Amino acid sequence: MWIFGYGSLVWRPGFAFLEAHPARLDGFVRRFYQGSPDHRGTEASPGRVVTLLREPGGSCVGRAFRLSPEEHARSFAPLAHREQAGYARHAVELTLLPDGRRVPAEIFVAGPDNPHFLGPASLDAMARHIFDSTGPSGRNDHYLLELARWLEAHGVHDPHVGALADAVSSLAAGRDVDQGDAP
Ligand code: BEZ
Repeated sequence: MWIFGYGSLVWRPGFAFLEAHPARLDGFVRRFYQGSPDHRGTEASPGRVVTLLREPGGSCVGRAFRLSPEEHARSFAPLAHREQAGYARHAVELTLLPDGRRVPAEIFVAGPDNPHFLGPASLDAMARHIFDSTGPSGRNDHYLLELARWLEAHGVHDPHVGALADAVSSLAAGRDVDQGDAP
């Protein structure tokens, strides 16, 4: 039983697993387009976290975890709760990196029709939003920067995450963010 993480799960899975590998999901791209009223923000001031958008020819590299059936049963209910605000479970097929093995997996995706969906904004607006948000699970910029760190450590170039991480780091250093659209 495999679960695919592409956000906080890559660096903070919170469950026991039998093996884990970087993995690629084809046909989707990762975007900070989902509002977080319960983890990296509040109902009154939601944070901005990742979801996946369907995009032909696109791909998203994250982390695949193989769980025992017992751990799957034990951890999946809390995980579904943790990620419930707008996310629904989907069955997909992943490519494990670097050996190319194909495995079936479960993912959570928050589609554009869910009530917390924020959609795109300028790079500056998204960076400021993330920089200013915090919730019960911690600071929103910590979520972004830990994800960016994991991707970098695994040699994964994700232009959207990289541009946001650079913009948020500039804000933290007191510099203005370059205007423009996030890739
Ligand atoms: C994750 O990979 O961290 C994740 C992202 C969205 C929903 C559930 C899990």
